[in-house]
Amino acid sequence: MVITLNKQLIASFKETYGKKPFLIVKAPGRVNLIGEHTDYNEGFVLPIAIDRYTTMLVSRRGDKKVRLYDLKYKESDEFDLNSIEHAELHRWSNYQRGIAKVLIDEGYKIGGMDMVICGEVPESAGLSSSASVEIATILSFKELYRLHIEPLEIIKLARRAENEFVGVECGIMDQFASLLSRKEFALFIDCRTLDYRYVRVSLPGCIFLVCNSMVQRELAASAYNERRRECREAVEAVKKYLPHIESLRDVTVKDIKKFGSYLPEEVRKRAEHVVYENERVKKAIEALEHGDSEAFGDLMNQSHRSLKELYEVSSEELDLLVDTGKGVEGVLGARLTGAGFGGCVLFCLKESSIEQLKERVLEVYPKKTGITPQFYEVAPSKGAFSEEIFV
Ligand code: GLA
Repeated sequence: MVITLNKQLIASFKETYGKKPFLIVKAPGRVNLIGEHTDYNEGFVLPIAIDRYTTMLVSRRGDKKVRLYDLKYKESDEFDLNSIEHAELHRWSNYQRGIAKVLIDEGYKIGGMDMVICGEVPESAGLSSSASVEIATILSFKELYRLHIEPLEIIKLARRAENEFVGVECGIMDQFASLLSRKEFALFIDCRTLDYRYVRVSLPGCIFLVCNSMVQRELAASAYNERRRECREAVEAVKKYLPHIESLRDVTVKDIKKFGSYLPEEVRKRAEHVVYENERVKKAIEALEHGDSEAFGDLMNQSHRSLKELYEVSSEELDLLVDTGKGVEGVLGARLTGAGFGGCVLFCLKESSIEQLKERVLEVYPKKTGITPQFYEVAPSKGAFSEEIFV
């Protein structure tokens, strides 16, 4: 399958640009197992990369032009590195534009390139298709122009492109997971220190299934930015009682129990979610290390409840999927994954229950919503990589 895809991509590159590609670059999407809306609060996250990649075939050009052809949209676009503007028509190219811009702003010497893109990461689903495009683009420039950039710098630059050029104030998790994930492992990231370590995912007899609600709130990006603002407000409010804190990461369970009731209602709810979600990430790591699937599933369920009731980023459709799944025997945990406001639910379940779960969801969900959901079985996969092409 991968080989067929690559052959098709290579043929498309030759047809589009009349030459051979030099490099193939692949960067995956991600699913967050637990630790939601904690990254921009300098907390903990535990994502895995999924076996769905954005693939790019690229080659150098002698000038400053970047030409792009997207196989999925069957659209092309181009821009000049000397004056990088926002694309209004082909908005998908803003990720490549944003990456080129931050690289140039940081003084990296890059030239033009020709690119064919094939995206397999579902879009607007909370599976980080955008981070996969950013990471694949930055690796393309890095390899073609032999840039010396350390992995953490790549991650920070990719995030900056999304923050500054695309305008979504995302945290650092998605780019991190897309670049540095490993097969069979989850990636634990301390989003303050940027220390990370790999945690083996081995829950005996269990698998992860992602279910796409196929609904995304239109203003998801602005709602996300609003949560970020609320967290900054929460820090200011908590500071009145705990002047030493710099972010919600510094607030402990004991603190929130003591001072929570003095905070404005909404602020308390947001802060409480973050404080307990950080705790849940630590417990989830222990559960993984002990192969304790029941405990892991419970933590996922708690996480969803908190995202729904305290952080208020769930939706009717996501709650319906979660509740339907929880009624199926062998389903250990269910939670929305990613930013929320639509997108996907992640189930942790016994392998033997998969057909039953899918059947039940397909029975209930379309009837109530008029929408057919999509399923993706996911396993912890390898982060981004590139290879020279010899054809
Ligand atoms: C989006 C952002 C991430 C993170 C999650 C919520 O995926 O890009 O940085 O904040 O939402 O956990």
